[in-house]
Amino acid sequence: MKTLIRAARVIDPACGRDETGDILIENGRIAAVGRDITAQADEIIDAAGLAAAPGLADMHTHMREPGFEDKETIATGTAAAARGGVTSILAMGNTLPVVDTPEQVADIYRRAKADARVHLYTVGAVSRGLASREITDVEGLLAAGAAALSDDGVPLMNAAIMREALLRMKPSGLPILSHSEDGDLVAAGVMNEGALSRKLSYPGRPAVAEELLLVRDGMLAADTGGYVHICHVSTKGSVQYIRRLKEAGVHITAETCPQYFTLTEEEIEKQGAMAKVNPPLRTQEDVAAIIEGLKDGTLDCIVTDHAPHTAAEKARALPKAPSGMVGLETSLALSLTVLHHRLGLPLSFVIEKMSTAPARILRWNAGTLAVGAPADIVIFAPDEEWTVDPASFASKGRNTPFAGWKLRGRVRRTLVDGRTVYDLAEEQRQ
Ligand code: DOR
Ligand code: ZN
Repeated sequence: MKTLIRAARVIDPACGRDETGDILIENGRIAAVGRDITAQADEIIDAAGLAAAPGLADMHTHMREPGFEDKETIATGTAAAARGGVTSILAMGNTLPVVDTPEQVADIYRRAKADARVHLYTVGAVSRGLASREITDVEGLLAAGAAALSDDGVPLMNAAIMREALLRMKPSGLPILSHSEDGDLVAAGVMNEGALSRKLSYPGRPAVAEELLLVRDGMLAADTGGYVHICHVSTKGSVQYIRRLKEAGVHITAETCPQYFTLTEEEIEKQGAMAKVNPPLRTQEDVAAIIEGLKDGTLDCIVTDHAPHTAAEKARALPKAPSGMVGLETSLALSLTVLHHRLGLPLSFVIEKMSTAPARILRWNAGTLAVGAPADIVIFAPDEEWTVDPASFASKGRNTPFAGWKLRGRVRRTLVDGRTVYDLAEEQRQ
């Protein structure tokens, strides 16, 4: 089977390519990239006026299966990924049961084989039951295919477990992904701690809670020579601390999410629980620092922290509503709208942060259109304007704070291993 993508603006940060050309796909892999490829193909995709880039690699998602299938399943979550141009995802392990044994890791891969529309990787937990009391079988989890280790969803409060896990992960070269928020300091907090939380009389989650745990984990990485990756960075102080740790030669990388460079805590006043997320939305000063951190490389990548919840759960009063927002179907457009269209950063910058960098961090065979690479491709209209309509989501989760936003940059087609897994034109015909 041969597919030819014709006359696209081919963007491949891994090869430093950004030019008009064709992409030939053969047997699920990139066979050639260049001008005027004349090979015969079974399928021709006319991409004139569109960009073609390596599919996005989202290293922070919650698929909710098993245990919370009312929120999301691997089938619906990976359909949402495909719709968002995301061709590889990492699923977090705060499911029921928790993914804390090699058997659970194998179970996730069995489910993914049956139901996943894009490449799905899973983490293994660092502590049993995410309880911060007992370390998991690190080597067994890795042998079963865990793509990284993380207790995400809750902070790993036990420094001894973090330290030992960093040491035992070293031979793999893979990171521990840290949900950095000190559990005691965030306790029952429902939003950023500050003037606004005091005005609204809500318990807060202070910036220092995030910074404290990330500095601890950075110090433990320095101490062990292990590798820590900081999840969903949201504060100015975090960016500064990560910058210093990197300058000191610590093996540390970090991610942020579109919500942290587009929204502030004021959304809580406007949208209530729809804007509730951990770590919380912060201030304009933090937003500016996150963007600076992306620009100067302190923040390596952009992920979604796609965290679907049911409408009924999100309809509860703020303190009782669960935290999190969906993101897979809006992340590329939000990043393009803000970073490319508003701030003038090149398209290749956005693709590097959303595809090439996360693939590099987790050592996935992804994030590039080099010859021989899997043909995981997103074709998008960089300038096309569209309006976010949660009713159109493939995700079961409709919990987005971006409903009604006009965004620029629209996914037209997504290919995984050379096969089309999402096609906007087809969706619009239905
Ligand atoms: O807001 C959040 N929701 N943050 C997390 O770390 C976990 C996630 C979830 O699982 O809902
Ligand atoms: Zn988290």
